[in-house]
Amino acid sequence: MAQRTLILVKPDGVKRNIIGDVISRIERKGLKVIALELRTIEVDTAHAHYAEHAEKPFFGELVDFITSGPLVALVAEGDRAIEAFRALAGATDPVKATPGTIRGDYALQVAQNIVHGSDSPESAEREIKIFFPELV
Ligand code: CMP
Repeated sequence: MAQRTLILVKPDGVKRNIIGDVISRIERKGLKVIALELRTIEVDTAHAHYAEHAEKPFFGELVDFITSGPLVALVAEGDRAIEAFRALAGATDPVKATPGTIRGDYALQVAQNIVHGSDSPESAEREIKIFFPELV
């Protein structure tokens, strides 16, 4: 059964003009992009999206960064889409991410790691509702 995942090309990825490369990797893998939008999100939306990190020491930095400029939000669909995209993205810490992955190829700092992907079916459902309520 096809699964859906919420993917963000974060403001650093948009600034560095790699939206196309990220989408190309998603499509090459065989995942289907079924919704896509370029937008700058409000602080409230960032709080909702990153609710599980609210108590972390880096939460303020995370919210400032994700609201700092336009990002691309998209929903990709396919078999085991969540796991498939997390493999394409690489480890959260880009220094540990394997070269050949998105973070492994493009980033050095954990706070600016180019992409976000849902980490579970529950997160995917919650996050898709935040960015694309019309899909649910
Ligand atoms: P993401 O997949 O968007 O989910 C939460 C984000 O928090 C994560 O990617 C990182 O970009 C960010 N993050 C994790 N650890 C730190 C940290 N120590 N300092 C700043 N940001 C972090």
